[in-house]
Amino acid sequence: MYHLPLNKIVKRILLRISMNNSRKRKFFTQNLMLWNTEHNKRIMPWKGEKDPYKIWLSEIILQQTRVEQGLEYYNRFIKKYPNVQLLAMADENEVFKLWEGLGYYSRCKNLIASARKIAFEFAGFFPDKYEDILKLKGVGPYTASAIASFAYNLPHAVVDGNVFRVISRFFGVYTAIDSLEGKKFFTNLAQTLMDAQSPALYNQSIMDFGATVCKPQLPFCNSCMLQKMCTAFKHNVVKDLPVKEKKLIKRKRYFYYIIAEYKDKIYVKKRIEKDIWQNLWEFILVEKDKKITAESFIESTDFSLLFDKQQVKIKSSVFYKQQLTHQTIEGTFIYVKCSHPFVNNLYVDIDKKKLSTLAFPRFINNLFENDTDFKMQNFL
Ligand code: ADE
Repeated sequence: MYHLPLNKIVKRILLRISMNNSRKRKFFTQNLMLWNTEHNKRIMPWKGEKDPYKIWLSEIILQQTRVEQGLEYYNRFIKKYPNVQLLAMADENEVFKLWEGLGYYSRCKNLIASARKIAFEFAGFFPDKYEDILKLKGVGPYTASAIASFAYNLPHAVVDGNVFRVISRFFGVYTAIDSLEGKKFFTNLAQTLMDAQSPALYNQSIMDFGATVCKPQLPFCNSCMLQKMCTAFKHNVVKDLPVKEKKLIKRKRYFYYIIAEYKDKIYVKKRIEKDIWQNLWEFILVEKDKKITAESFIESTDFSLLFDKQQVKIKSSVFYKQQLTHQTIEGTFIYVKCSHPFVNNLYVDIDKKKLSTLAFPRFINNLFENDTDFKMQNFL
């Protein structure tokens, strides 16, 4: 009986694997594009958009929020600042006000800085090369690929959470997506998967597919066009992929806000520190590293250092909690009516009717919108 030498057998196996892989890659790309043509029903105003300014704006907003909510912000921004020059010339506080609720204000600052660079240094011309787009403040490889492909049809594959998930499941990759090795691996694989003839359409397809079919929880595997060759589906490990190396440890913070009113004025300050909610406004704040009740706080020296108890009337308090990406904020809001002005050079007073002209973090806006005490006491 004739036997092939071992090295030839190994070579044949390797070739088979690589053939399978290239077949698998082709299957992936073709069926993804087919899914997009036949089943993708997602309508978004920036789809098919060629204006790099609008694409950039939509991508920066979508880094912050889901498409449904992002839509409203996108429309408001485009209405008020239809081009990069108008955004560049805008009053910063007005842009912050429009951004209100999206969080991560450093991203809004970067947006303004980049708009000014494009308008004043590049004469209004948006960069049209991937490397130059990447140099804009607040633009990383993902956003640069999105702009380069959508606006100029340049062959740069997007790699974001959706792409990590879809690819890791389909190819059964267990390399951690937040490791250096994983980032390199997925970026390379994503690039080989891209339809080089239609980068824009391909990128939009994989984003939409990840968001609507291959979802993080309860993906629609049963109606998925990629199911036939999906490794994770075959081995019943869809819910285990993608893998992450680091578990997020959330820091807990306890904020005690005093909403102090004196003759229809409220005391506020702008958060200027390099911290959450930078450039947004807030009330008189004491931050503590452990939780105490509103009553204990009012009895504490923290409170008596700010207010003479004889000169204030404590009206009520309310508790709110907010989960941010890296921290949990537990806030207690205490309403006090002052018989004397509150003197503290960190704070300014503002007519309570004008409070809504300032940009507040969502945490505080929640109070404006939901707390009946707040409304009943006519703070707005
Ligand atoms: N998420 C971020 N950008 C997106 C886009 N262009 N389409 C769909 N989802 C997105």
